[in-house]
Amino acid sequence: MRFLVFAASLRKDSLNIRLAKLAAFIIEKNGGKVDVANMNDFDCSSYNQDVEQKGVFPAGAEQLRKRLLASDAFIISSPEYNASMPGNLKNVIDWVSRFRPQPFNERHALLMSASPSMVGGNRGLWSLRIPLEHLGARVFPDMFSLATAHQAFTQEGKLSNATLAERFEGNLVAFMNLVEAAKHYPCIKKAWVEFLGEKPDPVTERVE
Ligand SMILES: Cc1cc2nc3c(=O)[nH]c(=O)nc-3n(C[C@H](O)[C@H](O)[C@H](O)COP(=O)(O)O)c2cc1C
Repeated sequence: MRFLVFAASLRKDSLNIRLAKLAAFIIEKNGGKVDVANMNDFDCSSYNQDVEQKGVFPAGAEQLRKRLLASDAFIISSPEYNASMPGNLKNVIDWVSRFRPQPFNERHALLMSASPSMVGGNRGLWSLRIPLEHLGARVFPDMFSLATAHQAFTQEGKLSNATLAERFEGNLVAFMNLVEAAKHYPCIKKAWVEFLGEKPDPVTERVE
């Protein structure tokens, strides 16, 4: 199984990059293949529908689409900015949502965050769930938010608290098991309709 893993931070000393790297290490240890991406790879100009209608997509959106399609699942470790997700992350999600087939549909996702705060940036993940679930991603129920993350890592990039380290690995392995089951066993396939109960109208319809 292939997992795309990235942190939604551009910062060199990012806590979320550290958490994403640790997740990648644990996935490989448990037999998964990992594509670790950098948020710089997905950098996009602000979404503009006029630009999209000319058929022009930013290279960053093309990159994210390509790497999502090459993966069975994706993991985002996202900072929390003002109790929500970072604007550049929402912007690239908006761009990628315009490709057909729509790449988030039916893809499994695990959300994580790291913050110096006491709740570890968890509110930002609730905002991130909304567009991803709207787009048909299967967002794993258990989200890992690393509190006081500036004090949580060892020099080697592991979690210094043994109980937290065990919970983190357990969360990742549970997610891997679900992705494996979804890949290898029959499960519900879903057509993507933006608003299932809406009266069909070509102007507003976004159906796949
Ligand atoms: C614009 C901005 C808003 C922030 N808002 C929050 C917030 O709402 N909650 C929080 O826990 N931390 C907040 N922070 C602090 C970040 O969690 C902290 O800078 C963190 O290290 C960013 O993630 P990174 O280390 O991966 O870059 C904010 C930081 C910035 C720059």
